[in-house]
Amino acid sequence: MSIHYRVILTGVGSVGRGFAEIVARRQAWIEQHQGVRILLVGAATRSWCCYNPGGLDVAAVLQASERRDYSGLPDRQPWSPAELIANAEADVLAEASPTDFATAEPATGYMRAALGRGMHVVTANKGPVALHGPALRQEAAARGLSFGYEGTVMAGTPSLRLGWSALAGCELREVRGIVNGTTNYILTQMEGGLPYAEALAEAQRLGYAETDPTGDVEGYDAAGKAAILATMLMGGSVLPDQVWRTGITGITPADIAAAAQAGERWKLIARVARAADGSLSASVEPMRVPMSHPLAHVSGATNALTYTTDLLGDVTLIGPGAGGTATGFALLSDILAIPR
Ligand SMILES: NC(=O)c1ccc[n+]([C@@H]2O[C@H](COP(=O)([O-])OP(=O)(O)OC[C@H]3O[C@@H](n4cnc5c(N)ncnc54)[C@H](OP(=O)(O)O)[C@@H]3O)[C@@H](O)[C@H]2O)c1
Repeated sequence: MSIHYRVILTGVGSVGRGFAEIVARRQAWIEQHQGVRILLVGAATRSWCCYNPGGLDVAAVLQASERRDYSGLPDRQPWSPAELIANAEADVLAEASPTDFATAEPATGYMRAALGRGMHVVTANKGPVALHGPALRQEAAARGLSFGYEGTVMAGTPSLRLGWSALAGCELREVRGIVNGTTNYILTQMEGGLPYAEALAEAQRLGYAETDPTGDVEGYDAAGKAAILATMLMGGSVLPDQVWRTGITGITPADIAAAAQAGERWKLIARVARAADGSLSASVEPMRVPMSHPLAHVSGATNALTYTTDLLGDVTLIGPGAGGTATGFALLSDILAIPR
């Protein structure tokens, strides 16, 4: 017998649409192979909301959100995202609204409201996990609910689950790697001969970098992920602004050439390390990585993390770190991981 999850979604951008599209396309397959029936019953952004306890017309939602024209969308409700959470009969909140590392709102409020109504919460939103992750995890556990956040680091590539599940029993001494695809793409282009400004412009043209690239190129995004790794994976307590941080804007073509001559490559490395006394330090900074290390060969927008363990030595995970489908999959994987 299948378990049924009625899901509501806050934020229907690249990730929310990726999630909705996978769930609609794979619904029967997921039920057959995983014994879980997932039904999207509600979705909301600041601009619109729809809710149908029998299930949304996902194709219509995707079409409307791509066209940004919600006029003909069935099941429209005059609700805000908070009102959807307050009114919907649902089992899971999938939260995919924008990340805010300063306040983590309104997403944290959405999550607390959903937990208060007995819903599991899955999210790709880094702000609430980086600022309030342990509290949200505890609030969910106290109610017998799940709080999933795999998509916050390396999208659907199972960076957190690998650490706490497959590597359980190992002591994690250090996790370090490339967790921001935009900066990795820029550095890769610079190795191909482009100066920083041109490499950034190319990243913006391809949609890898935002119009204001500060969050990526100054390392804020990677610092938020380092804080999540330190706190949610390695059991410390590190906030994003406690991560020692340097971005890539100071890297020059001469730096790139000098590294190449020494058989090395510049990478923006997020690193969380455990000291002998058990304390954790977290940093984000450009580092020269020798060609002999797997991280040196991770190019373009791909992400990678190396886990240094006491029993296995180094284990390196390489995979997509962004994208609507890759991150939408993370929300699905969190739902499938809810204990049954
Ligand atoms: N894209 C990726 O590859 C990726 C990877 C990992 C994690 N993430 C995280 O996943 C989340 C979603 O990313 P995205 O790329 O899908 O962003 P996006 O394309 O910019 O979409 C954001 C969505 O959220 C809605 N929204 C904005 N403010 C809202 C609010 N206050 N309440 C509810 N909805 C709101 C927007 O619609 P309106 O403007 O109409 O409100 C839009 O539908 C972010 O937290 C991001 O950091 C993204």
